Parts: sequence; structure tokens; C-alpha cells
Amino acid sequence: MPRDTGSLLVTNIGELVTNVPGTGAGGPLGLRRNAAVLVEDGQVAWVGPARDAPAADRRIDADGAAVLPGFVDSHAHLVFAGDRAAEFAARMAGQPYTGGGIRTTVGATRAAPDDELRATVARLRGEALRQGTTTIEIKSGYGLTVADEARSLRIAAEFTEDTTFLGAHVVPAEYADRPDDYVGMVCGPMLAAAAPYARWIDVFCERGAFDVDHARAILACGQAVGLGVRVHANQLGPGPGVQLGVELGAASVDHCTHLSDADVDALASTTTDWVSGPETTTVATLLPGAEFSTRSPYPDARRLLDAGVTVALATDCNPGSSYTSSMPFCIALAVREMRMTPAEAVWAATAGGARALRRDDVGVLRPGARADLIVLDAPSHLHLAYRPGVPLIRHVLHNGVMP
Ligand code: NIG
Ligand code: FE
Repeated sequence: MPRDTGSLLVTNIGELVTNVPGTGAGGPLGLRRNAAVLVEDGQVAWVGPARDAPAADRRIDADGAAVLPGFVDSHAHLVFAGDRAAEFAARMAGQPYTGGGIRTTVGATRAAPDDELRATVARLRGEALRQGTTTIEIKSGYGLTVADEARSLRIAAEFTEDTTFLGAHVVPAEYADRPDDYVGMVCGPMLAAAAPYARWIDVFCERGAFDVDHARAILACGQAVGLGVRVHANQLGPGPGVQLGVELGAASVDHCTHLSDADVDALASTTTDWVSGPETTTVATLLPGAEFSTRSPYPDARRLLDAGVTVALATDCNPGSSYTSSMPFCIALAVREMRMTPAEAVWAATAGGARALRRDDVGVLRPGARADLIVLDAPSHLHLAYRPGVPLIRHVLHNGVMP
């Protein structure tokens, strides 16, 4: 491919996070100093020392700053209408979070026209991108009728390849007395209408939402039509969600706030040897924005990491339990509150998210990867946790272009 058709060199990178282990200074972040990245046709074409960089049509001078792969936010609920600011205020005044507010958002979402939902997704996707998120997963789950789940996913698919069918978010009010009928509907006509727009299926497996038998049945139906499995598990209390996810070969179990030793062992039992070393095929995706916004105890990332479990960080962006689109905020929380090192948190927010979505083209900077990267207004990845709340994203490249 000719170098003179639209190549772009990002150079004078003081610290480059590649997530290619064994690179440069080593460690899982694969740090390189004084590096450059050549981008062609939306992909990374070359990575190496700045002094050896090939010529390119255009340059971005990082001026000694840090460059990282774009963040991979593997858990977000962006298709909804309205907000629940009053519910948040009540929580901050002492009310507990139970997930009951989901039905409020379902009512608002059903009543909203397509354009309003689309505009909300576009606004939040843009907000996330400006904060460095170049890959995002988007769930349905606030429609909960055949038509509303299908349109939520159709709209989500306009923004991402990683769409997730979450018809089993809660049992909607009109089915409150007959949850078996709702599960039958989710597995039947709702799945049929949703599947063409979905890559994944998810269930909120929790007391007050779906029990383990219903969750297993729904996830198995999704698997049977080719969807990958993810589970909202062990968020509000101990429960069977994590072990169900492992049993079904889920790519990710998400939240993991209340874990037993058996849950941690189950996750660790999915360890396999990757090129980069041992990793678990079921990732624990931690969502510290939810604990922040519900004033709940944080999950213990250290316990999972010490057991060898692969950990991802994601925002859980939604109007109820975590209305943030900021991966840097989640990194800062994970370091301060969940006993992750800054390097572990940055890895979890990039490569970890990619593992949780079973993707090898993002969350990494090596030739052939998608040219998704961020230039920080800081000399090192450490600053993402060290300078919380500060807008440190100077430039974002997505598919090789500045959006
Ligand atoms: O991941 N836990 C279930 N679903 C969302 C919350 C949704 C809501 O409160 O609207 C979550 O936290
Ligand atoms: Fe969620």
C-alpha cells in the first residue's frame, strides 16, 4: 500500500502504551519510549522508535506526551429517554439502589420517538469519544417489548458493531404476575426480532430481576441463534450469575461486586494460555461508576487479579446506576478504591475491554490493529489516575482519523 496516500505519523511520543507484552520496557502495557506510530488506511502500519519512523503525508507531534490505545468501553446502556437525576439525589440522601428505577426509564423510552433515542445515543457516543473511548458496546434493555427492543438495537447498530440484546433487564410491569410468560416472549418473538441487530445477549441475573433458571434459559436461546453471552452478575448481592456465566462460556460477567471464593475459583478455572500469557476466557468486567453512583462497596479487583482472573473496566453508562461515559473516571476510581495499580487499570480499560468483547483488533497498538489511539495532555499513563477529573485527552484518532 503506497505510503503517499493519506499516511499519518504520530511522532515524538514520550511514552507509548502498546499492550503488546515483551515490547520495550516490558510488562503487560508493552511501554515504549520516544516512539512513533504510522497509520495507513485506518490501521496501524508500523510502530517503532521515532528516529526510525518512515516518511508520511501528515504528522501529529505528540511533543513528548503519552499515547495509548483508545479506551474499549465494553458495557454501556445508551438507548434510553429521560434521566433519573431525582433518584440519584434521593440516593445521596440515603435511599438504597434496588434497580427498581429501570421501569421508569422503560416508560420514558417506549414513549420516545426514534429520533430522540438516536440523538441521545449520538450525544453520549460523542461525549465518550471526546474522552478517548474508541470502541463501545451498547445494550438494549429499556424497551422490553418486541418492537421497542428491536428498534433499540437497530439504533444501537448505527453506532457500534458490539450491540447487546438485554430484553431480560427486568420483567416489565405488564408481565409482573407472569414472569414465565415474559421469559417465553424474550426467547421467542423478541429474540427473533432482536437477533438480526445483535452480536451479544445479556441477562440481569439478580434477586428482583431474573433468577438463575430463567437467566440460563434466555442465554441458551441466544446462544442457539449465534449470540455471544455476557451476564449482569453479583451486582446487588451474592448470587449465581458469575457461575452461570462460566458454565455457559460467557465472554464476560459484569459487576462482580459480591463474589464468593467459589465464584473467583470458577472464573480462574477458565484460564487458558494466550500468546501473551495466561488469561481467563471469561473476563470479570468491573463497573466502578455504578458503585460510585449508588454509594455501594466497590468490587475487589485485587482479589480477582491475584487469582489470575482477567479484569476489564467499563462505564456501565446508564441513566440510573452510573450516568458517566468517562473511562478516565473509571480508571481513577479503580486505582483509588479497588486496589488496582495504574498500569492494571489502564490495561483493563483498553486490552481488558477488548478481551471482554473477544476482539483482537482494538485495545492494542501493533501493525494491523485498528488505528484507534489517544494522545494525552500528560507525559505518562499514570496521570489518568493521578489527575482525576482533569480533561487529559488532547487528541483522539478513531479508524485513523480525528473525529
Ligand atoms: O448495569 N443492573 C442492571 N442494569 C443497570 C442499571 C440500569 C438502571 O438502573 O437503569 C446496571 O447497573
Ligand atoms: Fe449494566
